[in-house]
Amino acid sequence: MTTAQERKLWLDAAIDVARIAGAHADAWFRKRGSLVIEEKGAQDYVSVADKKTEALIIEELSRRFPEHAFYGEESARQKPAPGQPVWVIDPIDGTTNFLRGIPLWAVSVALVLDGEPEVGVIVCPRQDEVYAAAKGEGATLDNVKIMAAKTTALARSQIGFGSSFRSDAHTSPDQVIALQSQLKRQGADVRRLGSACVQMAYVAAGRLDGYCELHLNSWDVAAGLVILREAGALTNDYTRGDWLSDGNVLVCGAPGVFDELVRAAEG
Ligand code: IPD
Ligand code: CA
Repeated sequence: MTTAQERKLWLDAAIDVARIAGAHADAWFRKRGSLVIEEKGAQDYVSVADKKTEALIIEELSRRFPEHAFYGEESARQKPAPGQPVWVIDPIDGTTNFLRGIPLWAVSVALVLDGEPEVGVIVCPRQDEVYAAAKGEGATLDNVKIMAAKTTALARSQIGFGSSFRSDAHTSPDQVIALQSQLKRQGADVRRLGSACVQMAYVAAGRLDGYCELHLNSWDVAAGLVILREAGALTNDYTRGDWLSDGNVLVCGAPGVFDELVRAAEG
């Protein structure tokens, strides 16, 4: 059991470090023309900006919490011992947007304890926005409380969407297309913003009514889960199984459209 005091300590640290990392990544964004881009897999890119930003986040957090573990997209893959807090980090979510000069990308930092995300922060440096939440304390955007939208039908909804080229059986082109068609048939207006974290933050803030993707990694989702739930949005059982290593399907949405969205995602 964590206490509210512990969560506050972790949240303040996460906000502080994600802001520092956001400024660092943004300096790279402004000189992105000079970055050497590596291909990790099909349509999956990385540059020194991602790697250095993750290293900075780990350095800053491990100075504050030397006993904690780290699990990040670019380098850190420490499986926590039982009862050991683990920081789950995506240094730049929306790397393709970042490298192409599209300003929708984010830094994501979460604290997970025994499989449960306790604290989450998403910083969008280009928009100068900080989304933050700790379990039981509500969610904020720039210190102002946020709530999911009150939309009650998919036929009046704006739904965020994503897919990847990861070789996971659940992300075959046919399944991705089937989900998009199903959403369209149910009347949803589907938009694809290129960053899972930005889309989760937008659902929490009521800018989107929902978001789904057939496979997302833990570093894409951990911070967003806390922010969504604390903003009154509903989420599927993303944290089942070994979600930290394997990821899962993610469905999240405003309470009035969530069930319809889950039915669409289940086919
Ligand atoms: C990706 C983005 C994208 C989502 C992919 C993620 P990255 O993360 O969030 O929107 O569709 O599944 O892998 O590679 O930009 O950190
Ligand atoms: Ca990501």
